[in-house]
Amino acid sequence: MKSTPMTAFDTAFAEDTYKGLTNFPKYLLSKYIYNEKGDKLFQKIMAMPEYYLTNCEKGIFEEHTAAIADSFNSPDGFDIIELGAGDGKKTKILLRHLAEKKYNFTYQPVDISQHVLNELEQSLATEIPEVNVKTQQGTYFKTLERLADYNTRKKIIMVLGSNIGNLLHKDAINFLKNIQNSMSTEDMLFMGFDQKKHPQKIIDAYNDPAGITEAFNKNLLERINTELDANFNLDSFLHWETYDPESGTAKSFLVSRDQQEVLIAKLGLRVKFEAWETIHTEISQKYDDAVVAWLASEAGLDIETSFSDRDNCYKNYVFRKRASANS
Ligand code: TRP
Repeated sequence: MKSTPMTAFDTAFAEDTYKGLTNFPKYLLSKYIYNEKGDKLFQKIMAMPEYYLTNCEKGIFEEHTAAIADSFNSPDGFDIIELGAGDGKKTKILLRHLAEKKYNFTYQPVDISQHVLNELEQSLATEIPEVNVKTQQGTYFKTLERLADYNTRKKIIMVLGSNIGNLLHKDAINFLKNIQNSMSTEDMLFMGFDQKKHPQKIIDAYNDPAGITEAFNKNLLERINTELDANFNLDSFLHWETYDPESGTAKSFLVSRDQQEVLIAKLGLRVKFEAWETIHTEISQKYDDAVVAWLASEAGLDIETSFSDRDNCYKNYVFRKRASANS
């Protein structure tokens, strides 16, 4: 039974949680996994042998650094703006090369988490002190709005990892359109797309036996417990992963093992679960060239080139604003 909805919510987290858990079917937004504990768990995920994405993309940076750097270069130098920079592990391979070869550039990592940015800034200061770093805390959307007015010299917008993969195609096109709008014709977008591959390899990456991914996914419930004063019993939910090889969509769920009722005090909400009812928490889309070309063309972008690892497990594409596209 639902209680009266509150008219105003204290935070976006409260509002989104209310919306998701009163929806049918229930869902929660994966962006809320990333608090300090979530950030730490995600770093553990990225270091797991099953989470192939890290090594595949790292392989691309190691193997093609010179060619990537070369594709970025311009007479006045360039600015790299990385959306969702995280710990910057992969980017550092490129930054080290750019610093060694004395390219004229700045590195501007953007992340929703100030904590992550502080750590990144500190580690860069000791590991590659030559790099001119300007961190910016904020959402992608706000950052892109600001970037539209930033046209002093060539900018490279970088989005790595599986960021775009968290969006349904319709939302991915909007995201790409937003980026396209903030680009001038000489700017470039450098973006990673996880590729379709053996379905088992994908399932394993999102369902590790050590339970790190499970803890990561359940961090959503833990946050609701601590921040919204709820009583989710984490053990009564199952982490479940599916992959549809036709659409290329991997999905994460939390499945209620029993019929139960959860009280979220700060929302004035009682949430009822049937046995085996689901909460959808995440999508992680896998791509092929045809789908990437379609998304790009819908967003007014052209693919200039792409870099792939040896096994074609993952690909970084370089996009430019389509010459005829008016923003
Ligand atoms: N969205 C990221 C990815 O697709 C992070 C992630 C990994 C994730 N495993 C997860 C998110 C499980 C939710 C649940 O790689």
